[in-house]
Amino acid sequence: MRKLKFQIPSGMHDILPEDQHYFQKIQEVCENIAGFYEFEKIDTPIVEEAELFSKGIGLSTDIAEKQMYTLKTKGGDLLALRPEGTASVARAYIEHNMFNLPQPLKLWYFGPFFRYERPQAGRFRQFWQFGFEVFGESSPIIDAQIIQVFYNILKELKFKNLIVEVNSIGCHHCRSYYRKLLMSYLKSREVSLCSNCRRRLRENPLRVLDCKDEKCQRIISHAPQMIDHLCDECKDHFKCVLEFLDELGLPYSLNPYLVRGLDYYTKTVFEIFPESLDKEDKEQKSKASALVGGGRYDNLVKSLGGRDSPACGGSGGVERIIQEAKEKSIKWTTKKKNPCIFLAQLGDLAKKKSLVVAEQFREANIPILESFSKDSLKTQLGRADKLGVKYCLVLGQKEALGGTIIVRDMKTGEQKSMKIEKIIEWAKKN
Ligand code: HAM
Repeated sequence: MRKLKFQIPSGMHDILPEDQHYFQKIQEVCENIAGFYEFEKIDTPIVEEAELFSKGIGLSTDIAEKQMYTLKTKGGDLLALRPEGTASVARAYIEHNMFNLPQPLKLWYFGPFFRYERPQAGRFRQFWQFGFEVFGESSPIIDAQIIQVFYNILKELKFKNLIVEVNSIGCHHCRSYYRKLLMSYLKSREVSLCSNCRRRLRENPLRVLDCKDEKCQRIISHAPQMIDHLCDECKDHFKCVLEFLDELGLPYSLNPYLVRGLDYYTKTVFEIFPESLDKEDKEQKSKASALVGGGRYDNLVKSLGGRDSPACGGSGGVERIIQEAKEKSIKWTTKKKNPCIFLAQLGDLAKKKSLVVAEQFREANIPILESFSKDSLKTQLGRADKLGVKYCLVLGQKEALGGTIIVRDMKTGEQKSMKIEKIIEWAKKN
């Protein structure tokens, strides 16, 4: 095959017209859920200072270390295409003094994000996320509500048997003790770890728990668990979160090795996976395809220069959700109604008049389909038939001169003539 001169950058994808409705549907569901739980929409720029992310997400994370698209501006600033939304929203929260607004402050977003990852199934270099973040509230009920928000979005999108995994990674106090404990356990097994984990061991031993390598997984399965070493406050907080989830009847499972790949988390972390169709590869497949991830991040706002503001949130991957819906043959319907009227025209005068008629429909907010560029009535009626419209309006030379229009019922084939100025009134009733 001839190689095209210009091709889409690796790991990126066009959202073609036939896929637009998937994006619209997810956005529509997010909007409805946001409205119900009183989240307000926020949009932040696609680029931010690179340091916002290295500081916010953590220097030793894969995202900050390897996956950021950075660029130097002519003015010498180092910017990065946003790899995630939480740090940006936290920056906006601080910059616009949003702590002065009634708290908790609930914000949501929907947009493209960029990570220089190895392209593979469910991993893109430009992907879309929707996110929900709550600032200024430390109560565990917020953690449960955030999980519920994402669970409900996926349920509204007709996913069944979702797997919600939760864990607590504690706070600075209890985690530093656990870190030492884990370090000494892993150190004594260092030779058996993969090269990546040997490096992680020095930088952030908790990240070893995230490793998918089979040998590492065996070691991890016997490692000490954070959950057994939480301080009293973190233990109580987590207990309350689980009680709220129980009360909501939201099915979850505890995954003591869930740590997430971003450094800002404290206490609760969670991920939501689709039900695996294949039991055997459930572990491996599900690990590669979390639809949603999030957690509490009580220190992020302060670490970015803001006030001490507890926070909690999560984000969902739009492409992964669409992919999963396609695999499971889930069909979504959008609010947009298909037009039920087609306007056909025959002859020069009728063509001109039909432009005016179509405008009248637009002004009356009634959708109408047409094929103005086609001259043959047969072709136009054929298209109307294919589109499955209920009525076809026909404007011929005679009608254009006499100020009338023909209304054809596509099902029965019945036709009637009508005064052209009455057509909008008729359309409103049909
Ligand atoms: P994350 O787990 O990195 O968390 O991403 C959230 C979701 O975005 C993932 O579960 C996945 O569905 C999707 N996603 C991530 N990377 C890719 C990719 N390369 N290609 C396609 N989809 C991807 C965050 O981004 C945090 N900001 C979540 C959060 C919000 N935590 C608190 N608030």
